[in-house]
Amino acid sequence: MNKLILCFALIGFCTAANFICTPEMKQNKNCTREYNPVCGVKMDPNKSSKYSSIKSTYSNKCTACSEEDVEFYAEGSCEEYPKIAAFCHPDAHLSKGCTKEYFPTCGLFDDSVICQQGLCSSNYSNKCVACINQEVSYILPGYCHLHEQYQP
Ligand SMILES: *[C@@H]1O[C@H](CO)[C@@H](O)[C@H](O)[C@H]1NC(C)=O
Ligand SMILES: *[C@@H]1O[C@H](CO)[C@@H](O)[C@H](O)[C@H]1NC(C)=O
Ligand SMILES: *[C@@H]1O[C@H](CO)[C@@H](O)[C@H](O)[C@H]1NC(C)=O
Repeated sequence: MNKLILCFALIGFCTAANFICTPEMKQNKNCTREYNPVCGVKMDPNKSSKYSSIKSTYSNKCTACSEEDVEFYAEGSCEEYPKIAAFCHPDAHLSKGCTKEYFPTCGLFDDSVICQQGLCSSNYSNKCVACINQEVSYILPGYCHLHEQYQP
């Protein structure tokens, strides 16, 4: 968590990869109260897009994954990310391919990518094309340069 905050201060948004909730984690009903917050992600059942999700902060990854319908989580509380961030599903890189539709999307890299300055990000032609890259942690709509104003 401290690392995330440091990232914001030094190089703008950057983040860790997203983690799938394993079947064992889904069944665990015995989580500790340890405070090591994560942003748990459920798919929005009312939206057909797999990039529409419901985010909530949980006190730790065990608590997040034991909650019904939470599929994966990102490290740190949801408030540490831009409000409009859509996290890439950890399995998104397994997609067989993407359509060629053009909906400019800014993909934010996880901390496996070293960035010198500015947003650690790249422009993509659509959400699928962004999230199929394993190092993209979350996406924002539109071109990257518009996002300096997006506060966590
Ligand atoms: C929950 O975890 C505690 C501590 O590890 C253990 O003593 C207890 O037996 C566990 N309870 C269940 C229902 O698994
Ligand atoms: C989905 O839509 C139903 C009916 O409009 C609503 O009751 C429910 O709260 C919605 N669920 C979510 C997660 O937004
Ligand atoms: C994204 O595209 C915009 C518009 O062309 C450009 O200004 C910006 O520098 C690009 N950002 C990155 C990270 O490539």
